[in-house]
Amino acid sequence: LKQAPLFRGLDREATSALAHTMSTIRLSRGAVLFHEGDSGNQLFVVVSGKIKLGRTGSTGRENLLEVLGPGQMFGELSVFDPGPRSTTATAVTATELRCLEHEDLVTWLKDYPQVAQGIMAQLARRLRHANDSVSDLVFSDVPGRVAKALVDLSGRFGEQRPEGTLVHHDLTQEELAQLVGASRETVNKALADFAARGWIRLEPRSVTILDMERVSRRAR
Ligand code: CMP
Repeated sequence: LKQAPLFRGLDREATSALAHTMSTIRLSRGAVLFHEGDSGNQLFVVVSGKIKLGRTGSTGRENLLEVLGPGQMFGELSVFDPGPRSTTATAVTATELRCLEHEDLVTWLKDYPQVAQGIMAQLARRLRHANDSVSDLVFSDVPGRVAKALVDLSGRFGEQRPEGTLVHHDLTQEELAQLVGASRETVNKALADFAARGWIRLEPRSVTILDMERVSRRAR
């Protein structure tokens, strides 16, 4: 939790004081924290587990914008710009969160400008990533987007193993397809093709990237 952008630049005393103003929420796999369109004035930080942020189109199709892991923050948009939640937040695995109320956040921002810097840095990174995702949807083919998703997930959930990078993403095939923004069939085909080339090894809810260089090159 101390590594989270929200806490960056705070000394130990301030970190522990901020952590104490936050309440703890525990979610089981599949539990929804909030729905797109809900009103909200709380910001959350993932302590352990994974949260998926998704949107549902008018036809009922789901799109995953991001899967967050430990240290990452979400829910800041409705806090800074009062309005409906822009995504639905669902626990992908058993997940523990810390929750900060709007009034407490405002107090902290006044007293500790570093907290604002940490939040702004995360917002900037997110905007950059969102721009990349839009460009990928326009310019990249599905295998390229699958490769990009694998590289992204490895940055967050990857563990170095002798044979490669084990990415324990915990996502179903359907969720992976929602993250890539393509049908399950085309995403599965791309994954099977990468596996046949020896670039990856598929396992239930995880993938080992055996040849990171090739996968990264395919993502570009
Ligand atoms: P909020 O709109 O309050 O609730 C949903 C949250 O999802 C939002 O705040 C952000 O924290 C997060 N979110 C929205 N869009 C994206 C995105 N494109 N990438 C990552 N996180 C996002």
